[in-house]
Amino acid sequence: MSKIEIDRFKCVRCGRCILSCPSRVFMRKSSLDCAGLAEGGAERCISCNHCIAICPVNAISVNGLDGADCDIFTEGVFPRLEHIISLVQKRRSIRTYSGVPVERYQIEQLLNAVRWSPTAKNRLPVRWLIINGREKVVELGGLVINWFRLLKGMDEMLEAWDKGLDPIFRGAPCVVAAYTEANAAWAAVDCAIAMQTFDYCAAAMRLGTCWAGYFITVAQKDHDINKWLGLSRNEEIYASLMLGNIGCESYQKIPPRPEVKVKWL
Ligand SMILES: Cc1cc2nc3c(=O)[nH]c(=O)nc-3n(C[C@H](O)[C@H](O)[C@H](O)COP(=O)(O)O)c2cc1C
Repeated sequence: MSKIEIDRFKCVRCGRCILSCPSRVFMRKSSLDCAGLAEGGAERCISCNHCIAICPVNAISVNGLDGADCDIFTEGVFPRLEHIISLVQKRRSIRTYSGVPVERYQIEQLLNAVRWSPTAKNRLPVRWLIINGREKVVELGGLVINWFRLLKGMDEMLEAWDKGLDPIFRGAPCVVAAYTEANAAWAAVDCAIAMQTFDYCAAAMRLGTCWAGYFITVAQKDHDINKWLGLSRNEEIYASLMLGNIGCESYQKIPPRPEVKVKWL
């Protein structure tokens, strides 16, 4: 339940809080009235804070936060569509990393950005693991490989590893993973959205990334890996990226992709 306060002396009766709220927290009897709390509104509130961001006069506070706690958009830095499309086309899965480590402040910038990724019902369930440093990444890669040693048909991958190559994390100096409570509603979707946000922001910083599918698969099955990562039995990784400064893998061209398959109704 949220603690919601409406300052009736400040309210200009614009009704924007009512229109923007996804949970019917606010109401008023007529357009001449100030906004008020609907019955059960505080219980329904999902703390998305849309109301405090949209109120033009800072008349609303939710759990002690109000408009003064909001940063203001800088219109000048809002990207144009062609910039976004260019980012989407330019981001590539990178599988060659330079030896230059990723700085902690760069990762912190990315983690700061993902706070605004959408999550179902604004539950904000996503937690992050950062495995930063090549030695730790190799140790983790070894645990993933050990699991694959128990399976048939993985000879090529195992041979590559035994030759000193890294088919799991591709030589990346850092791995990031997003996890939630196991089997929480929308867990995989929330983690994937947050990770994709991280991914595009990393591309904008000219860092290289690649989804770490083998690692995700094994982490979801092998409890020893989660123990090594400090996760409990009821926590599960749903998304992971390799991260690093790009080595000798520079794309001047956009790889051709087929048209989307679509049904217009
Ligand atoms: C869920 C997922 C898991 C992936 N796992 C791996 C992986 O374990 N290793 C790898 O080299 N690439 C992995 N990839 C990268 C894909 O191969 C890559 O996205 C695809 O070939 C398209 O290339 P692009 O990302 O450069 O557009 C994965 C991608 C996704 C979306």
